[in-house]
Amino acid sequence: MSPYELTRTLPEDATDAALRADVLHGLTQSPKSLPPKWFYDARGSELFEEITALDEYYPTRAEREILLDRAPEIAAATGARTLVELGSGSSEKTRHLLDALPLLHSYVPVDVSGSALTGAADTLLAERPDLHVHALIADFTKELTLPDTPGPRLVAFLGGTIGNLLPDERADFLASVRAMLVPGDALLLGTDLVKDESVLVRAYDDASGVTAAFNKNVLAVVDRELGADFDPADFDHVALWDSGRRWIEMRLRARRDLTVKIPELDLVVTFEAGEEMRTEVSAKFTQTTVRSELAGAGMELAHWWTDEAGRFALSLATAV
Ligand code: AVJ
Repeated sequence: MSPYELTRTLPEDATDAALRADVLHGLTQSPKSLPPKWFYDARGSELFEEITALDEYYPTRAEREILLDRAPEIAAATGARTLVELGSGSSEKTRHLLDALPLLHSYVPVDVSGSALTGAADTLLAERPDLHVHALIADFTKELTLPDTPGPRLVAFLGGTIGNLLPDERADFLASVRAMLVPGDALLLGTDLVKDESVLVRAYDDASGVTAAFNKNVLAVVDRELGADFDPADFDHVALWDSGRRWIEMRLRARRDLTVKIPELDLVVTFEAGEEMRTEVSAKFTQTTVRSELAGAGMELAHWWTDEAGRFALSLATAV
C-alpha cells in the first residue's frame, strides 16, 4: 500500500472561479485592489524564490535560522506525531522540522496547488519512505477537515504568510486553526516583526527590481487567465510602510491614464494617471500583538523564539 494519498477538497475549477470573483470585486472597488494569492503562478513562484535569496529580503533566512536552532525544542515541546503544514508549497523549509520530529508518523501538507504538493511529496518520500503523507488540496483560509492521523498534531503556518491576511481575515483564520486543535495539539506560527522602516521598505523594494517584477506579475496572471490587456510597463511598483496599521503595502501605480479590457469578465476598467491599486499587505507583529491575536482565537502563546537579530519570530501556541 502506498503511504501517499492526495485528497482534493477543491473542485478543479475552483481556482478559476475564485480568480474571477476576486478580480471583478477588486477592480470595481475604489480604491482598486487585487489579493496577493494571485501572484503565485509558475513565474510568480519563481520570482518569489528569487526574492528569498535577495540581500534585502531577510524573512526567509531569519525563519530558517530559528527552525534550525529550535527544531529539537519544538519536537520536545510538542511530541508531534502528525505535522499539518498550511500553505506548504514546496515544503522546503519544513524539512528541518520533519527531520527533527522523531515520533512523526504523518505529514499533511495543505496547499491550493496540486502540482506543488505532488512534487514535494515525491522528494520527501524518497528520503522518508516510512512517512505517511496525506496531501490535501484545499484553501487553508476555509474550514478544513483533516485526515484521521495519530496525535498530537502540530499545525505549522510558516513564512510570515499570516501577514498577507487583513485583520478580520486573520481573526477568521486563527479561529479555524483553533477549531482543528484538540488538547495536546499545537500551532507553530511564523511572523515577521516590526522593525526600522527603512529595513522593511528595502525588503519590499529591492535594488535589483525582483520584487517589482513579482508585483507586476499579477497583471500577467490576469492577462493570461482572463484575457485582459494590462501592460505591466504602464505601472510602477510601490512599497510603503503604514505605521498605524503596522503593515507593508505593495501597490501598482498607473503611469498614465489607462483603459484596460477584461473580456472574460465583460469588464472595462479605467485608471487615472497616478492611481494606485493595492496588491498586498504584509503585516508585521510584536510579541504583544501575536499574543493578543492568539488569545482572541482561544489560543495561548507557549513559546516565542526569534532569530539572533530579532527580525522574525516563531510562536508555539496551544488551545486554551
Ligand atoms: C512570504 C508570502 C509572506 O509578505 O513577505 C515577498 C511575500 N511579497 N515580497 C511577504 C512577498 C513581497 C511574502 N510572504
